[in-house]
Amino acid sequence: MNASRAYPSGPSEPIEQLVQALLARMTLAEKVGQMCQRNASEGHPPDYLGADLRAGQVGAVLNVVEVDAVNELQRIAVEESRLGIPLLVGRDVIHGFRTVMPLPLGQAASWNPGLVRECARIAAREAAGAGINWTFAPMIDIARDPRWGRIAESFGEDVFLASRLAAAAVTGFQGEDLAAPGSLAACAKHFAGYGAAESGRDYATTSIPEVELRNVYFPPFQAAIEAGVRTLMPSFCELNGVPCSGNEFLLRDVLRGEWGFDGVVVSDWDSVRQLKVHGLTADDRASALAAVTAGLDLEMAGDAYRNHLASLVESGAVEEGLLDQAVAGILRLKFELGLFENPYTDPARLPPLLDDEALATAKQAAAQSAVLLQNRNGVLPLKAGRLQAVAVIGPLADAPHEQLGTWTFDGSAADAVTPRQAIEALAGPEVQLRFAAAMANSRSSAGPGFDEAVAAARDSDVALLFLGEEAILSGEAHSRAEIGLPGAQEELVRRVREAGRPVVAVVMAGRPLTLAGIVDQVDALLFAWHPGTMGGPALAELLFGVQSPSGKLPVTFPRMVGQVPIYYSQKNTGKPPTPDQVVHIDDIDTHAPQTSIGMTAFHLDAGYRPLFPFGFGLSYTEFHYRDIRASAPEIALGESVRISAELSNQGPVAAEEVVQLYVRDLVGSITRPVRELKGFKRLRLAPGQTVTVAFDLHTDELAFHGRDMRRVTEPGEFRAWIGGSSDTELGITFHIRGDTSS
Ligand code: BGC
Repeated sequence: MNASRAYPSGPSEPIEQLVQALLARMTLAEKVGQMCQRNASEGHPPDYLGADLRAGQVGAVLNVVEVDAVNELQRIAVEESRLGIPLLVGRDVIHGFRTVMPLPLGQAASWNPGLVRECARIAAREAAGAGINWTFAPMIDIARDPRWGRIAESFGEDVFLASRLAAAAVTGFQGEDLAAPGSLAACAKHFAGYGAAESGRDYATTSIPEVELRNVYFPPFQAAIEAGVRTLMPSFCELNGVPCSGNEFLLRDVLRGEWGFDGVVVSDWDSVRQLKVHGLTADDRASALAAVTAGLDLEMAGDAYRNHLASLVESGAVEEGLLDQAVAGILRLKFELGLFENPYTDPARLPPLLDDEALATAKQAAAQSAVLLQNRNGVLPLKAGRLQAVAVIGPLADAPHEQLGTWTFDGSAADAVTPRQAIEALAGPEVQLRFAAAMANSRSSAGPGFDEAVAAARDSDVALLFLGEEAILSGEAHSRAEIGLPGAQEELVRRVREAGRPVVAVVMAGRPLTLAGIVDQVDALLFAWHPGTMGGPALAELLFGVQSPSGKLPVTFPRMVGQVPIYYSQKNTGKPPTPDQVVHIDDIDTHAPQTSIGMTAFHLDAGYRPLFPFGFGLSYTEFHYRDIRASAPEIALGESVRISAELSNQGPVAAEEVVQLYVRDLVGSITRPVRELKGFKRLRLAPGQTVTVAFDLHTDELAFHGRDMRRVTEPGEFRAWIGGSSDTELGITFHIRGDTSS
């Protein structure tokens, strides 16, 4: 197979010269062609895309994953088109390819950037074997609404955590060299504010003040860009009245102007044409004009660019220079990916799929992502030697497809190891396993299966319930207005409880669920998200204590849906609630004066606390924090303060703990959140071990965008806390010296 004819002088020539030389040879139609990405998911794509490829009308494809078909598309583009420009081949490789890793939200619960990077690296290696050179991941939208189905694809609610994990995922997908085998171009999506869709309804309106965009929604994108992400996708939503695909403020002023992004901006699926549906434009031609003017380089799946861009230039409505900028970015990426040197994927040298390394990483990620929310009387870990029979109950206990979660185009249920299978293997023949699915699926009503489940529990030493939501209940366009356990699952828990055995609930879901109805009914509660191919073995190891749970919530768990949005980094308000202000709505006198219960920011029927706070997660050991210190009571702007505390493992087993640092800027020219995560470390401690955990905090890390949108650190008083959850009380105060008058 030959290198592309478009690659004129050899790889040593700087990419920019190659890009400009090629651009100079292109006709207007060929430029437009580079800006079009075509869906290739049906049949044999060379049959229906061949003619357009030969005519230079296609710059990219997506959704073709069969290596021979990809090679054939590349061959036509490279050998049979006038300029021989190879194709970008995109795919949603979101949390794994064939080896399915936990959902991104689950990966975020590991608070382990190195592991997130490994998950992305393995996904990239497997996908690259199919000829894919570009993934539409990571999704790095801050997500504070668990009703939103796509929260599953996110890294959760927090700016700092999501930014760290965004950078990790980008470096994992892209590797050190985009042209090396096994690297994919990554795509930071969806810019910006997609997670703030009204009432969590996917695609709905978003209204976010600029200062909040800059302080909350933009930072993960800046982190991805600093990590070198080569492509970016705008959100489907409108933001403050302007749909993101035609939003010049986002795509041109901020992204290019302020941040200097020189990669490719790809539309979301058909989102250029949707500018008309939003009501921003009157027709597809106007949509193409709005998108290209805003700075959108490549249209995915639609045909507004294909049909209208050339005539927009010919009529003078669009300057050809705008197209040149877009095409230069696309060509640059193709050079960086090494596609001009070798556009083909050698079918004889396919990378291994589901190899030992991939499966071990998937298992470790699933184990580190599970969050132990409750463990009364040390019911977990199970003591294998002392058990005779275990009841494994529930619709998610043996549901291989469901544990993979949303967005798993290329994973296979046949590869997944379920909890039922893994528990049987781990417990061995001495322990009897009594299985009862109890329900056809998570949404079923109570039925005869319940009696079977109760009987299985009664005849066992412990009942393990695998509950939650199927894969299809979260993800794109799968938002929910109620986020409790669907169907009759709460009733199932109550019935099984009546059997009188310890009850352990393992919940698999693509979002936080409102679990207040079962926390009192179960002895232990382990939240496993959708844990992927190796979910079963990871959960079995946790349940039997081969490993200790170490995940921490990347998102707040509300008591009830009416508390949403609820997140730890809220503002204090002028009337903050106090812990004693818990009211039982039934106790309020009918004719009581309005002021009788305290006038603060809480719900009469829910209080103000969530069910489980951000950062929370238990372990099989006891971690204790004490002795928080600041290296100096006062520092100057431009200096660092070291905040440290002692952490000891006072329990019986070695375990990992995610130590978290939070800060509050007590006085701000715009008010600051009550706490903000500013650092975290995952540490392993042996029983009896004590360590000092220290974080160096530079004053730049305390900067925020103020009223004039400039980013500044304002001197004054700060409070810092260290602990194993966002509600830690172990705090200390320090000052930043400086002039506060400006
Ligand atoms: C999603 C994107 C995705 C694209 C391509 C859209 O519906 O919003 O996140 O990358 O489809 O599959």
